[in-house]
Amino acid sequence: MKVTVIGGGNVGATCAYILSEKNICQEVVLLDIVEGIPQGKALDMREATPVSGVSTAVVGTNNYGDTANSDIIVMTAGKPRTPGMSRDDLLAANIEIMRSAIGEAAKASPNAIVIIVSNPLDAMCYTALRLTGFPHTRVFGMAGILDTARYRTFISMELGVSVKDIAAAVLGGHGDTMVPLPRLTTVGGVPLTELVSKERVEAIVQRTRDGGAEIVKYLKTGSAYYAPAAAAAEMVEAIINDQKRVLPCAAWLTGEYGCKDIYMGVPVVVGRKGVERILEIKLNEEERKMFDHSADAVRSVITATKL
Ligand code: NAI
Ligand code: 2OP
Repeated sequence: MKVTVIGGGNVGATCAYILSEKNICQEVVLLDIVEGIPQGKALDMREATPVSGVSTAVVGTNNYGDTANSDIIVMTAGKPRTPGMSRDDLLAANIEIMRSAIGEAAKASPNAIVIIVSNPLDAMCYTALRLTGFPHTRVFGMAGILDTARYRTFISMELGVSVKDIAAAVLGGHGDTMVPLPRLTTVGGVPLTELVSKERVEAIVQRTRDGGAEIVKYLKTGSAYYAPAAAAAEMVEAIINDQKRVLPCAAWLTGEYGCKDIYMGVPVVVGRKGVERILEIKLNEEERKMFDHSADAVRSVITATKL
């Protein structure tokens, strides 16, 4: 398997490194527009492989020819936000980057599955769907795994229990309107709502919604990348190993959850074909309202792409 990561910045390079260390693909190509950066980072990663005992060939390039016939493309090129910015503020800059990058990548790898990471996530997925002309089952986005990982982390910190035993899903758009679902969150099978007070659950939900901004506030010059890169790599692994994992991803809805022609974070069965199935959760009235509100927010950014 050959995986191309477009964008050799914080998320892209970290994702390439995690993929290399997982030893799940023969080749990882790291592509960036800046000369030298992907080459240097890829060589550095490759020099780590003898130490780690893995055999991934990591290649750095500025040339789409080197990405030819990739099985998976992870799109991370784009500006990250800085303090005070919302993800949606990145639309104008990142749509231009998407225009210059994703079409070329798709031409070089017409059968690839595309995982979008660049923000604003849901609108960038839509942009990639339009610009590649690929079927929607082969274009989807990473956000829900990250948002859910943050939510699980905060619950684990609250209760002093392992993150491993916390089962949860955060749905909706990747923005302030995301939809964590405490009603369906369990800790070793015990409902979260039986373990934590309503006020504390609300605080955890709000911290999850602000999870990206919390990191931006610390870093000042950019946004989170370790957890986002690990989340994207988890999607790649699910595809490569045809794992049929149920992962919250930004998927194109064709009537599911009462929505059509929009990318939203929903539980997706991820396997060798990409988005193999979307699982529908029966939402209660309050959750439904939050989901619809999130869909409205995503729709307005998608409309702003003018595609
Ligand atoms: P970064 O600034 O560290 O890296 C971006 C890289 O893209 C740079 O190396 C830059 O040279 C490259 N680039 C710019 N234009 C390019 C082009 N036309 N072709 C190829 N490469 C190009 O940013 P970082 O932290 O890696 O974030 C990347 C994107 O991912 C941002 O838009 C950020 O908002 C988004 N993100 C999304 C997350 C999610 O949950 N979906 C989580 C974290 C970040
Ligand atoms: C995050 O949630 C910036 O979308 C990115 O950290």
